[in-house]
Amino acid sequence: MLLDGTDARALQQAAELLAAGELVAFPTETVYGLGARADNNAAVSKIFGAKGRPVNHPLIVHVAETGEAERFARDVPLVARRLMDAFWPGPLTLILPRAEGIATAAAGGQTSIGLRCPSHPVARALLAATQRLGVAGVAAPSANRFGRISPTQASHVTSEFGDSLAVLDGGACEIGIESSIVDCSRGHPVLLRPGVLAPARIEAAAGEPLRKPDADAPRASGTLAAHYAPNATLRLMSQQMLTSALQLLGDQPLKLAVYSRSVPLGAPDGVRHRRMPLLADQAAHELFSVLRELDAEGAQLIWVEEPPADPEWDGVRDRLLRAAAS
Ligand code: TXA
Ligand code: MG
Repeated sequence: MLLDGTDARALQQAAELLAAGELVAFPTETVYGLGARADNNAAVSKIFGAKGRPVNHPLIVHVAETGEAERFARDVPLVARRLMDAFWPGPLTLILPRAEGIATAAAGGQTSIGLRCPSHPVARALLAATQRLGVAGVAAPSANRFGRISPTQASHVTSEFGDSLAVLDGGACEIGIESSIVDCSRGHPVLLRPGVLAPARIEAAAGEPLRKPDADAPRASGTLAAHYAPNATLRLMSQQMLTSALQLLGDQPLKLAVYSRSVPLGAPDGVRHRRMPLLADQAAHELFSVLRELDAEGAQLIWVEEPPADPEWDGVRDRLLRAAAS
């Protein structure tokens, strides 16, 4: 069931469904989320069931404002406070030590909790409306089945879960890849998942360098080696490899799509080409919908040109590497 995210009555209806312990999908500036009230373990367990996600993979709790986040956190370290001030509302998730006895199902067994205050107007209106109904926060992973591509349009969500799920339609997500995740629960900030925020900007706001996750860093679905998988087999190649591979193809009857910044030279007829934008933000914005479209067109293989080595591309490169590992 699609609900108009700009309609006040639809928003109220969605908030009431959430308050009653039902699932509602909603847009954020990054990707669509599959929400349930975070303060109710039975409601949250419906998310794991619908997604087919292991129950020990923690979810992000979405809050209307910083003050609400403080209810879930046992402690808000200075570095987290700085990052909230700099980037909330926006595409940044913070992992904080969890207050005892709250959001235990959403936390997936961790003693920490992932918190995010989204900036999308529909998400903000929904969170404010649920807050008025006494709901503290909304747990929401990306609204896709486990391991699949995150949805960036309402129709992607319905194609994953069918028509019976209530989906607030807020149009295409502006950013298009999931939030950056910074773990602030372990003394030093650790970047668990890159997003569109340049690491240098996060470090400038944090006032200290970001560390890389070590072996005992908490498990994060979006950080599994194989994730974000289209149905087609995806391979990442340098521009040179791509050109040679296309020349070697001959007339094999492959359903091949190429997604590259450069125009592929010597591609046999019938190879579908999509041009990857030259700007990282634009590439992030369209990445998941392009993969879905190529899947829908029946591509068996998707050959993608490696993004530039520039840190601006970290988020896009990260998603492509995981899609290629699936
Ligand atoms: O942009 C986003 O972050 C989207 C929108 C809907 O907000 N959400 C999203 O959720 O990407 P999900 O569940 O697909 O990815 C959340 C990631 C997972 O990799 C999860 O393991 C990690 O956050 N995470 C959540 N809580 C955590 C915790 N306490 N410790 C470590 N990782 C955590
Ligand atoms: Mg996800």
